Amino acid sequence: MAKKLFVRTWGCQMNVYDSQRMADVLAPLGYETVDAPDAADMVILNTCHIREKASEKLFSELGRLRPLQTEKAQAGGRMILAVAGCVAQAEGAEIRARAPFVDMVFGPQTYHQLPEMVARAARAAGEPIVNTDFPVENKFDLLPETTAAGGPSAFLSVQEGCDKFCTFCVVPYTRGAEYSRPAAQVLSEARRLVAGGAVEITLLGQNVNAWHGDAPAGGTWGLGRLIRALAEVPGLARIRYTTSHPRDMDDDLIAAHAEVPQLMPFVHLPVQSGSDRILAAMNRKHRADDYRRIVDRLRAARADLALSGDFIVGFPGETDADFEATLRLVRDVQHASAYSFKYSARPGTPASGLGDQVPEAVMAARLETLQALLIEQQTAFNAAMVGRTVPVLFDRRGRRAGQLLGKSPWMQSVHADAPARLSGTIADVRIEAAGPNSLTGRIVTGAFASGADAAALGVPA
Ligand code: 5AD
Ligand code: SF4
Repeated sequence: MAKKLFVRTWGCQMNVYDSQRMADVLAPLGYETVDAPDAADMVILNTCHIREKASEKLFSELGRLRPLQTEKAQAGGRMILAVAGCVAQAEGAEIRARAPFVDMVFGPQTYHQLPEMVARAARAAGEPIVNTDFPVENKFDLLPETTAAGGPSAFLSVQEGCDKFCTFCVVPYTRGAEYSRPAAQVLSEARRLVAGGAVEITLLGQNVNAWHGDAPAGGTWGLGRLIRALAEVPGLARIRYTTSHPRDMDDDLIAAHAEVPQLMPFVHLPVQSGSDRILAAMNRKHRADDYRRIVDRLRAARADLALSGDFIVGFPGETDADFEATLRLVRDVQHASAYSFKYSARPGTPASGLGDQVPEAVMAARLETLQALLIEQQTAFNAAMVGRTVPVLFDRRGRRAGQLLGKSPWMQSVHADAPARLSGTIADVRIEAAGPNSLTGRIVTGAFASGADAAALGVPA
């Protein structure tokens, strides 16, 4: 009988990808993924450590799971409870101490060893397994092939870890050193994803544009070259990549935006701050004007390219003038969307030891000001779509019956009335209304197999 596996994921898209791969590793052992933890044979909590309250969320979730684990034991079964991801990597010992009923603690680089960990857990109930090494073997060489049933929009991890050591960031410590998967491995995974129904692939990496993998015929490729090779995979209509670092935005990648139609005109390019003083203290290794220049070059390559970014307010020592510089940068660049955060001192990072921490109330006020500006720009960007016709990849059901929800090339959510069979396809949609977070429109193309569908939607023949 199949065993039930429940995986809960926090954090970035790479964690979403990792969770999927954990399910791939466990499938041959008879585990099937379920969507609730009740009566599960194994529960994996895949955690994120990037900002505050990560471990609090974990411990409260563990508190909720404990009774389910006990219930299962009383019924004569066993629920293996595992904590994975970056909190596991950073706080393995604390998890063991505070939650001794956890059976396994493992970091992002060891989940290919799950079968062995499960076997050990089965033999030694009550003896927690902690596996937070950075093993010499690479997990990507040892993971089974992906199950490739991931829907129209798929993630593909190509690069992992980070050697940049921004002074606020835990990633270099939790994910380890930078690693690029070989091009051939990436291309074959992409082909499998497309064979399984993917129309869009987002290449993932903490520093994805630092990717420099072994080329299939020897030598090394950069990300731009990899994207050109992916563009030849039949059926792959859209290519994206995230998250990038400004320092690694090289000429070839910028040129790919001009030359590869499948490469979507939307780049997530974190900048964190618009102040050179703060950028230096963050060890970002570039100035605000370098970022402006890169944005100009990207837009010169592709005029309709839109940008998103990440921002941190209240980095230690940030003054009103530094913050004003960030607002200026945002106005100059006109980000179409963005994530912005209050600085959070992360244990073990260089910035956590800095004096001159910015008071909470100041951080809160700056965040509010920045977010108001970003939302204003995002709303204006969305409003400018009204009246335009844009290709939308429908990848899920909409709010109402008879509606589908999809993504524009610029990552905007688009609602439209559409028959369910258009799910997983790209159709042209004329945008009729826009809000700060989504667009609504009407399908206008010959994406219809039959005139009946078009008639049902009120589309003129
Ligand atoms: N405090 C606040 N935000 C952070 N980020 C990373 N580390 C911290 C931190 N210590 C943000 C950055 C990064 C995004 C993934 O999370 O903006 O780009
Ligand atoms: Fe963290 Fe900086 Fe590396 Fe991004 S580039 S993962 S912010 S250290």
